[in-house]
Amino acid sequence: MPMEEQPHFRVPLSLLLIFSLFLLPTSFSSTHDLQILNAERRIDLTSHIIKVYLTLKVENLETSPASEVHLAFSPAEAEHLAIVKAAATSGKRKKKTYIPLDVKSAELPDGPNGTKFFTVTLLTPLNKGETATLEVLYILTHSLEPFPVEITQSESQLVYFRDSAILLSPYHVKEQTTFIKTPSTRVESFTVVDPAKRAGTELKYGPYEDQPPYSYSPVLVHFENNNPFAVVEELEREIEISHWGNVQVTERYRLVHAGARHKGAFSRVEYQTRPDATGVSSFKHLLAKLPPKVHSVYYRDEIGNVSTSNLRTDYRKSELEFQPRYPLFGGWKSTFVIGYGLPLQDFLFESPDGRRYLNFTFGCPLTQTVVDKLILKVVLPEGSKDPTAVIPFQVDQHLEIKYSYLDVIGRTVVVLEKSNVVPEHNVPFQVYYTFNPIFMLAEPLMLSIAIFLFFVASVSYLHADLSIRK
Ligand SMILES: *[C@@H]1O[C@H](CO)[C@@H](O)[C@H](O)[C@H]1NC(C)=O
Ligand SMILES: *[C@@H]1O[C@H](CO)[C@@H](O)[C@H](O)[C@H]1NC(C)=O
Ligand SMILES: *[C@@H]1O[C@H](CO)[C@@H](O)[C@H](O)[C@H]1NC(C)=O
Repeated sequence: MPMEEQPHFRVPLSLLLIFSLFLLPTSFSSTHDLQILNAERRIDLTSHIIKVYLTLKVENLETSPASEVHLAFSPAEAEHLAIVKAAATSGKRKKKTYIPLDVKSAELPDGPNGTKFFTVTLLTPLNKGETATLEVLYILTHSLEPFPVEITQSESQLVYFRDSAILLSPYHVKEQTTFIKTPSTRVESFTVVDPAKRAGTELKYGPYEDQPPYSYSPVLVHFENNNPFAVVEELEREIEISHWGNVQVTERYRLVHAGARHKGAFSRVEYQTRPDATGVSSFKHLLAKLPPKVHSVYYRDEIGNVSTSNLRTDYRKSELEFQPRYPLFGGWKSTFVIGYGLPLQDFLFESPDGRRYLNFTFGCPLTQTVVDKLILKVVLPEGSKDPTAVIPFQVDQHLEIKYSYLDVIGRTVVVLEKSNVVPEHNVPFQVYYTFNPIFMLAEPLMLSIAIFLFFVASVSYLHADLSIRK
């Protein structure tokens, strides 16, 4: 193509870029010329919820100030990503301070093979030659693949973890190291990308120097992990507000052991007599962290109330420890309901504009669990209007109407839905609504009418009865 034709192409292309800025829902940014002076990644594989701590020291190479840093994730990681958080740090060791930074998903034009991006916005833009240190935490679920896929009661659970020895990044990385922590010293194998070494429960990849943007070097680690792979396939939490002083919570769980499938027979005798040597990857105790001052706690499965539960409470929290009827092995499921009451004054408040609001904790009270699908329903008192939910991350929202006895017009239900929920999602959220106190009279009024009708019925019955005797 002749050189002089090029300028003709440039104009429409840049116009297109301007238009796409308005059309795309997520931010469409370009990579600023930054470089990563040092990257340190610590991958914690001790549970089935994988935590990755990434420390990045970035430098601006361009003359214009840079206010954004992009993080890149491979398609496999993006699919299992539950949360990405970032903070700016300053100071050293004990005097270190963390300031949370805004993170949002982004589109970048030059990423290979369906790479997914997130953009971290810096507190103050970096001038040329300036550096900043970022701490990033991201969490992956369903990323440990059991191999062998089926084990017997006497076998230990082995899993595969796949990643890259080199950090996937849109920037040039001058120096980097990755540390992988395994739950035990039993590591069957790992891909060697020199320099790589293992000591005890730690695998070290690197240091690697001068890696160009989007460098990638797949590694496979095969290791033992007998931690409970507790996954709630679906959790429905119903939080019902009664202005008469109570918040009633009902939680319906469908729990599964998502580790290597159990094969062969299950021997309860062996399970009970040799607890350290059999069923090491199974679990039988569950722990729910509930708010303090909880009352009327129950735990019920398909058969009925289960009495093997234990509640400990203090002024900060309550802990409910309970056991399903049988231990859970890989692939086994348990369906149960937990219910409890809470004092209204701990959760319902009035905002300065006169509206009322519920302040409650999102997520799942069971410790160390992943929730594939969480449905959280806040049932407002009858007569509540204009509900709005305030929550620090993206959830699907809609409204429903629920009728119960003594209701005249039904109750508004705010429904919040989120998939791939991890314990880091257990943060406060609020539901604001307006309420006309005249509706406080609706329930007693319905009750009085019912009593009056009953009275009328009784009198007429007695009357009829008497007239027969005459
Ligand atoms: C992208 O695909 C190429 C070839 O298919 C492969 O070599 C490379 O490792 C892939 N990169 C990532 C980040 O998956
Ligand atoms: C189960 O326990 C709850 C709360 O203690 C109680 O209200 C309910 O009647 C019990 N159900 C059965 C079937 O025992
Ligand atoms: C909600 O409760 C948490 C503590 O449980 C508190 O830190 C937070 O400030 C409350 N939020 C509002 C808006 O009241």
